[in-house]
Amino acid sequence: MAESRIDAKTKVFGLLGNPVGHSMSPFMHNIFLEQCGINGAYMAFAVEKENIGAAVRGMHALGIQGANVTIPHKEAVIPYLCGMSKAAQACGAVNTLIYTPEGYYGDNTDGAGLLAALEAKNGWKAEGQNILILGAGGAAKGVSVAMALQGAAKIGIANRTAEKAELLAKQIAELSDTRTDVISMQELQKPEVYQEYSTIVNTTSLGMAPKVDDMVPVCIDALQPHHLVVDLIYNPLETKLLRLAREQGAQTASGLGMFIYQGVLAFEKWNGVRPDTASIEEQLIQRLTR
Ligand code: ATR
Repeated sequence: MAESRIDAKTKVFGLLGNPVGHSMSPFMHNIFLEQCGINGAYMAFAVEKENIGAAVRGMHALGIQGANVTIPHKEAVIPYLCGMSKAAQACGAVNTLIYTPEGYYGDNTDGAGLLAALEAKNGWKAEGQNILILGAGGAAKGVSVAMALQGAAKIGIANRTAEKAELLAKQIAELSDTRTDVISMQELQKPEVYQEYSTIVNTTSLGMAPKVDDMVPVCIDALQPHHLVVDLIYNPLETKLLRLAREQGAQTASGLGMFIYQGVLAFEKWNGVRPDTASIEEQLIQRLTR
């Protein structure tokens, strides 16, 4: 039997969510831990909604050094924290818990993770850009808040439920100088809308496995080579939206980059070292497509 890495000094990290069975976070973080020579282990914990407070308190009592938080607990953990970063406060959601003796400090690396991924892979910065966000839920909020704080010139929001788009536009306007616009599903079919935007980001779940033929009704014919189309989904790695955009000649980015960098940023906050991103993408792709 192979010798276990786990011993009495192993630091524990974890993921709180439900379900967590398909999460790639344990696979990625355990590679990062090994790569950085840290005696640690990252586990996934499926926690029922009514148990989230007990789970956070119990983790702290056990001295668990850090955790990620995913659906459906990103807001529910907030009452059990000892403090929160500006990013987490601005989006009202937490995806990273950092151990302090007083309790867990909450942060949110989702938006910053997307920005870091787009900068690393596409040389893209939000500053001065006009960005069209598809969706107005929690993921849309995290991404648009980060983009607004990084100096986006304009953020347009297109959502099935117009009131949620209007509320998000108002929240962005309150915390930044970024101009906002709300775009109806009818307007989204009009080619001229796309002349105003350089970047289009799908934050909805449309197109995620198993419903891979779903897509927000974007006017694909209006896309040009200067457009960057981003999908937060990474399963499948190329959604229908990204495939059609690529075939139309636009640039594309899948959600895998955001997934990697939200994890990289969380890992750095827990361990004070930045894991190497050079080989992780390939390892994740192999794992996702096997
Ligand atoms: P998340 O935290 O992943 O963003 P969420 O807060 O539930 O999840 O938001 C899901 C987003 O996907 C919303 O913008 C939602 O649109 P509504 O606000 O109209 O509900 C969007 N969405 C989900 N299913 C959709 C569908 N079938 N058609 C259009 N939009 C959809």
